[in-house]
Amino acid sequence: TEGGADDYFGAVIAADGKIEPRDEMPEAYRKSLIRQIAQHAHSEIIGMQPEGNWISRAPSLKRKAILLAKVQDEAGHGLYLYAAAETLGVDRADLYEMLLDGRQKYSSIFNYPTLTWADVGAIGWLVDGAAIVNQVPLCRCSYGPYARAMIRVCKEESFHQRQGYEILHVLANGSPEQKAMAQDAIDRWWYPSLAMFGPPDTDSTHSAQSMAWKIKRFSNDELRQKFVDMTVQQAEVLGLSLPDPDLRLGEDGHWAYTQPDYDELFTVIKGDGPCNRQRIEHRRAAWEDGAWVREAATAYAKKREGATV
Ligand code: ACO
Repeated sequence: TEGGADDYFGAVIAADGKIEPRDEMPEAYRKSLIRQIAQHAHSEIIGMQPEGNWISRAPSLKRKAILLAKVQDEAGHGLYLYAAAETLGVDRADLYEMLLDGRQKYSSIFNYPTLTWADVGAIGWLVDGAAIVNQVPLCRCSYGPYARAMIRVCKEESFHQRQGYEILHVLANGSPEQKAMAQDAIDRWWYPSLAMFGPPDTDSTHSAQSMAWKIKRFSNDELRQKFVDMTVQQAEVLGLSLPDPDLRLGEDGHWAYTQPDYDELFTVIKGDGPCNRQRIEHRRAAWEDGAWVREAATAYAKKREGATV
């Protein structure tokens, strides 16, 4: 009908405007946003584990303080994102439940182990670097609360990326053993980082619709290419190599590269990556151990409202 939800929604999307929580929106748009934002929030929270693993073993007090701050930032990102998802009419406790019972996903990348200190550098440089390439366009996403949350998240991610790069830079210019450790970390994190962008466009279920709705602004393959183009030069400055013998600069100015193993990506997404079980178990234990805090906070809030507990 004229002036109905579809008219308003269609007009806002066509004009590159923002859809806000109280605006009418197609149910499928709302559902797809909940899926993506919740998955994104879960990734931030699960993503605290691989790096958290190194907080107690960081090589100096300064490194420890930086890493601690970084992991706390990830918690903050998760909280912004759960809040953004809640504006769509879901409860974060339900989202948590869906994460824990496997109905919702989180990024494949956090199912790989952090074997050495250099992995903290490689995660900052490559994983947070890939996250920035993927998330900067989300600042222009059509859903207002998600777009606005992304602005601060991207600023913090860019600090994270630099701290990772600096860790690798120090190692690359250190002893031969340190340099080898940095190279080994890059060798292990390169392809999983490329896989973070999702399946190739031809196999991407949601891309076409999400781009039409202006949730996504670029396809998975476009962003993956952008990341490769950016990263090759940074590796040269580090004096370390990317583990792809077929990297070639094309006449179009883009680097040709070897695709990640997408069968491996799907295996990891389905729950069979190297650390999936450990990550979810840890998350479940944290959720259960925190029950008393949630109960106490609820009781305190009720008391302050003047209600009987
Ligand atoms: N890890 C886990 N699942 C993935 C991944 C991945 N790397 N890539 C794709 N998938 C899933 C999709 O969620 C989708 O499954 P679903 O239908 O159950 O949700 C399926 O594989 C097919 O993929 P697409 O159709 O291409 O999915 P989509 O259009 O949502 O694109 C992408 C995937 C690019 C990850 C998108 O959702 C996105 O941009 N999300 C926001 C960013 C984000 O979540 N980043 C988290 C890691 S960054 C960090 O936390 C530091």
